[in-house]
Amino acid sequence: MSLQNDLILRAAKGEKVERTPVWLMRQAGRILKEYRDVREKLSGFKELVETPELAAEVTIQPVDILGVDAAIIFSDILVIPEAMGLTYQMLENKGPWFEKTIKSQADIDQLIIPNPYEKLAYTLDAIKITKKELNGRVPVIGFAGAPWTIFSYMIEGSGSKTFSKAKKMLYTEPAMSHVLLDKITQSTILYLKAQVASGADMVQVFDSWAGILSPAQYQEFSLKYISQICDAIPEVPVTVFAKGAFFAREEMGKLKCNTIGLDWNMDIAESRKLIGANKTLQGNLDPCALYGSFAEIKKQTNVMLDQFKGSRHIANLGHGLYPDTNPDAVRCFIESVKEYKSVLA
Ligand code: CP3
Repeated sequence: MSLQNDLILRAAKGEKVERTPVWLMRQAGRILKEYRDVREKLSGFKELVETPELAAEVTIQPVDILGVDAAIIFSDILVIPEAMGLTYQMLENKGPWFEKTIKSQADIDQLIIPNPYEKLAYTLDAIKITKKELNGRVPVIGFAGAPWTIFSYMIEGSGSKTFSKAKKMLYTEPAMSHVLLDKITQSTILYLKAQVASGADMVQVFDSWAGILSPAQYQEFSLKYISQICDAIPEVPVTVFAKGAFFAREEMGKLKCNTIGLDWNMDIAESRKLIGANKTLQGNLDPCALYGSFAEIKKQTNVMLDQFKGSRHIANLGHGLYPDTNPDAVRCFIESVKEYKSVLA
């Protein structure tokens, strides 16, 4: 099926675009009343993730309500540890919690490399339904966590300020850490390939905890595996978003991916210099900028677009939307990006 709006795919590939495409990380979620209404009728977050018709419905909501140029499939990065053998709960107002964590080689040996068509069929089905219902209006983004970020949750069992248990494992058991990272990487490649086969038009790898490693550790325990993932997915454009990895930008420019996500701490001109001209950059407005007045949001958005002007860019925030953001502020951001075209013309 041909796409009516393929701006984001063309921008990712470095082709000419009429205007900068825009979407937001966490666009499908709690900021929308329509999402909360669907979610309220269910037992919790996981039921929504695991019910393909409803996951497709909330995936499409931001396309209809906010006017974004892409839909990101509603799921979570934690479906991979679950499919490998560690089930999680999403605790209300607290976040993820794993009953079992990884402490030893024996724990790692028990993990499986799941067949995504068996263990993660719910997300693959959600992608198929979303593609059918979107009927080519915008592309669908598939995603997975980066191996290092998934490793962190598997060791810690929940979120953490320092992720010191996960980092302790790198220092005390480096060989064992590599065995686990390799198993996660293999599982992630199979899962992303299955998402593409199910209709995902591009994929994003989220390395949310990149910023807590040293540059040398990041190279050894994270980028090495992200690089394997990029090499394994030649079918569609790949985006790598490594939050806080300002120190790794030059290295990331060498990845076999199309797009690098920037967070709001990263200077745009400096990032372009470090990463080079051959990648599309994605981002990077501070999600907190959306708490400002509409005039201020428009101003901040234009300042950001001015800095990216003339080079490959996909507009987004520098991290996910916060749940208490006013949807009208999000609309203001999106409209500001769309109107910027007429300023250029
Ligand atoms: O709109 C989208 O971006 C698509 C869906 C999506 C979710 N999670 C849904 C979600 C995506 C892409 C993710 C990725 C994800 N999940 C990341 C990487 C991106 C990032 O934010 O750094 C991480 C680290 C997770 C793990 C996770 N999931 C945490 C720590 C939490 C709790 C914190 C929170 O925001 O509540 C979640 C829950 C979660 N995942 C929610 C949503 C919409 C909120 C839960 C709810 O609706 O009840």
